[in-house]
Formats: sequence, C-alpha cells, structure tokens
Amino acid sequence: MSLHTHLESAIQDWIKTNGLAISGGPWVKACQDERFGHFQTNIAMVAGKGLKKNPREVAQQLADLFGKRENLAKVEIAGPGFVNFTFTAEAVAASLLALRDDPHLGVAQAPTAKKVVIDFSAPNVAKEMHVGHIRSTVLGETLARLLAAQGHRVIRDNHIGDWGTQFGKIILGYKQAGKPALTVDNAIGEMERLYKDAHKACEADPALMEAARLELVKLQNGDEENVALWKKFRELSQAAFDQIYERLDTHFDHTLAESFYNPWLNEVVEELLAKGIAKEDKGAAVVYFDEPELKDHPFLVRKSDGAALYSTTDLATIRYREQEFAADTLVYVTDGRQQLHFKQLFATARRWGYDRQDFEHVWFGAIMGADNKPLKTRDGTPIKLRNLLDEAESRAAKILREKRSEISEQQAALMAKVIGIGALKYADQAQNRNLDYVFDWDRMLAFDGNTAPYLLNAYVRTRSILRKAGSPLAPLAKFELQEPTEQDLARKLLAFGDIVQVAAQEYRPHHVCGYLFETAALFHRFFEHCPVLKAESESLKNSRLHICQLAGDVLKRGLYLLGIQTLEEM
Ligand code: ARG
Repeated sequence: MSLHTHLESAIQDWIKTNGLAISGGPWVKACQDERFGHFQTNIAMVAGKGLKKNPREVAQQLADLFGKRENLAKVEIAGPGFVNFTFTAEAVAASLLALRDDPHLGVAQAPTAKKVVIDFSAPNVAKEMHVGHIRSTVLGETLARLLAAQGHRVIRDNHIGDWGTQFGKIILGYKQAGKPALTVDNAIGEMERLYKDAHKACEADPALMEAARLELVKLQNGDEENVALWKKFRELSQAAFDQIYERLDTHFDHTLAESFYNPWLNEVVEELLAKGIAKEDKGAAVVYFDEPELKDHPFLVRKSDGAALYSTTDLATIRYREQEFAADTLVYVTDGRQQLHFKQLFATARRWGYDRQDFEHVWFGAIMGADNKPLKTRDGTPIKLRNLLDEAESRAAKILREKRSEISEQQAALMAKVIGIGALKYADQAQNRNLDYVFDWDRMLAFDGNTAPYLLNAYVRTRSILRKAGSPLAPLAKFELQEPTEQDLARKLLAFGDIVQVAAQEYRPHHVCGYLFETAALFHRFFEHCPVLKAESESLKNSRLHICQLAGDVLKRGLYLLGIQTLEEM
C-alpha cells in the first residue's frame, strides 16, 4: 500500500467511525511544498460543516489521533484547518521494501476485473494513415496497457472504415485505368490517386457519376468481380496498416471493420423504429432527443434512400460488443471533432437498453504545426504517418551519431528506432489529450526536458550503475534512507501506483508522463548527492544500488505503459 493510500484509507475509516455523511475523496493530496509535510488533507474543513464545529478544532482532533501513529514523524495543522503529515524515514524505507517485492510496483489490482473494449486507431481503407491517426493509435495502446496493469480484461478492437460510397469511385477508377498492378508498397498511394481522379471526373461528368453509383450498387449486391476488388483493396490496406502497427508496437485482439456489421444494419434500424426510439421521416429514420444538449441535433440512422450510415454501424457495434464480448465498458478513442457523434450514439444506445454500460469517448485535440495550424506538408497535404515515423528515426539516428561518434551507423539505426518512435509517442501523450499540441522535432528529441530521450537516458543511467556494480545485487533486508534526496526519490517511487490509477481513471496518460519526468529528475538529483559505488559502508552501497534498480524498474514500467521501449545503453 502506498503512503498515500495508507493515509487515505485511515481518513476514510475516521469518516466512518464518526458517522459522517461524507462521500467522495480522495481527501489526501501530496503537499505542494514539502517543507510543510509529505501529504495534506482538507477533510477537517469538509467535516467541520457537518459536525458544526470550527475546522481547526476538527483538525486538532485529527492531529491528536494521527500523532499517535508510529509511522508519522510529524502531524501539524495549518491555515484554516489543513492537516499536514510527515512520515518517518523508517516508514518510507519499509514501504519501499514492500514496493520492491511487489510485481505490480504498487499498482493496485482492481477488486473486480472489468471487461473493457477499447476501440482505437480505426483508419480508413484505401487511404494513407496520416498524422491524425497517430494520436488514436498511441493513446489507445496506452489506455489498453494502463487498464490491463490494473487487472482489467482489455479487448482491443480496430474498427477500420472499410465501407462507404467511395468504393464506387475507386472501383470505377481502377477499371478505367486498366486495372493497374497493386502491391503492398504502392497500393494505398495508387488507390488514393484513383479515387481522386475518379472523383474529379465524376464531378465533371454526370454519366461517370452514374457509372460510379452502379459500381457501388454492384458491390453492395455482391457482384463477384467488385467484391473481389474491394477485398483486395482491403487486404492491401491492412498490410500497410500492419507495417505501421508493428513499428508502433501496437496490437489488436480484433479487427472488426465497419463492413462486418452490414448484415445487422437493417435489423437495428427496424428495432429502433419498432421501439419508438427512432422516427420515420420521409423514408429516413431519425432519433430525436429531449436532452437540452442534443435537442437540436437529431441522429440520422437511415438516409431517405435507405442507406445506412456511420451511426447505424456504430449502433450495431455496441450491440455486438455487449452480446459477444459481455463488455462492461466501451471506450472510443477519436478526434475531438467526433464529440457530437458519440454523445448522440451513447444517448441512443442507452434508450435502446444498453444503459448498464459505461461509455467513454476519449477524445483528443489536433497536432499543430509551428504556424499554429493543423500540421500539414509544405504543399498542404496531410503528412503520411509512415513518413513521420521515418523522419523520427532518421533524426534520432543523426543526434545519436553526433553525441557518440564511436557507434556504428547500424547500431545507431537500431537505437534510433526506440528513441525516435519513443520521442514521437511521448510527445503525443505528454500533454492533456484534450489540448492541441504543437509538433516540434527539436523539442521532442531533446535530451533535456519532459521528453522520451530524457527518460530513456535516466533509465540507461540506472542500468549502467548496476552493470558497474556487477549483478546480481546482494539481498537487501532494509533500505537505508539517510539523505533527503534519497528520501524524496523513495517517496516518488512509492507514488507510482497512485499515478497509474489516476491516469487510468481519467483516461489521461499525461499524468504518467509528468510523474516519470519528476522521477527521472529526482533520480539524477539522488545520483549527484549520494555516492552509490563509493558509499561509506557496504550496507549503504547495497541499499543505494537497490534504489537504482527500483528507480529503473519504475521508469521502465512507466515507459512500457506509454508504449515506449527502453534501451540498456545509449
Ligand atoms: N474510421 C473513423 C475515422 O477515421 C474512426 C472510427 C472510430 N470508431 C468508431 N467506432 N466510430 O474517423
């Protein structure tokens, strides 16, 4: 149990024993300024109201009670009724030992594991994955790892967009272009070009537009040639996506694309109509809402020509995930521009009877260029994700070779994969996901600051000390925390589990980033102030080596949760 949870649960017990009608929490926070103590609570102010007592009086009561605890060195009241707690070095040392022996590194395991489906990445077939897809892919992967770390059952589902009117035009274009050869490497580019050209031609010529429509109808009606073409487009796109997923170390349990749900779309609309959830309107089917927020935003689930939509597929998907996966929670990771869609979707699903589910739309802001406009290439087209990954790696390799001329080009290229992709992923997660962030190669690849290279470097430092000491380490029965810097680091390490909890609960990986950055900084401070290999006694040296190891473990696990690999040296 972390120091924080230890206090928190003691406060919760105190609330219960006193029969106070207070719910919520947490009531314990880390002190902003450590001179006042390690942790602080405002519960006396909250309880004071209920007890009709002066908060300072309640705070005094708490201070008297907690002052008796052996693991607390100091309990003081401050201001209008805050209580500040300072743990003894022995208490910190004992908790640290427990942390070292905990395979979860302090991450509390959920008492009841939930089944969580995470719907992320979800690019569209026949289109290049562009810079916008990196956020959903990276955030989704991290959320999956965070939830799994708490013991939840995570199901990763890639809801690929593989159906829609664009296929009429692509098929037409493909046939008219004399069915050019497609390979994994050129396919997406070719398909984009075919679509663009066909689209332009259709706009100019109504006869061509009609021809494209007919190709689409043939596809929808199961025409052999068109279905085979569509399947080929899908396969080639998937192969290109998989190359990206491999480079991003991203994995899916299922790839149930939109077309997978086609057989049920009619049934879904009919059911919504029969239940009065959707209303018929000139052949279209529409869901109207009473909620003030959605009153002016009816949800179209069938067009007047009978065609199903993105919304219809998403409704069928909810039913499928409920029935087949018995999901407790459905998480969707997309761009913030889809907020309205998901509000409408969740409201409809709840009325439809899927109301016991937690629905979460985890949305994110845009990636901006230096000009503060959405990031684009020089000629204004979206940046292709694979080019972005290539550039991350080549820039990282160049920096490495500048820093360490002795390493071979080959070695640099291997390390650059970890550093470059790590830097990209980290920059994508380091800020609150709801904010837009400015894409900046130099900043994300800097070895200083809140960056992946900085964290990787701190990890590498822990490894190099351990290598010098010669492993395995001697067993350790008790940590010796003499210096303030080692105590600070120890308390930081003890907070790992809490931060994972917060990040998972809010679906916000940036909490983990901020935490790791602070941990790395405290590790460097510790290392500068506390001789490790030259410590004044064998037992102190051993204790410090174990601290290095534990700090390395926490950094590595934290980076892993963010989808970032580590290096043993760099
Ligand atoms: N393919 C969609 C897009 O690129 C994202 C799909 C997200 N998932 C979902 N179930 N709607 O915008």
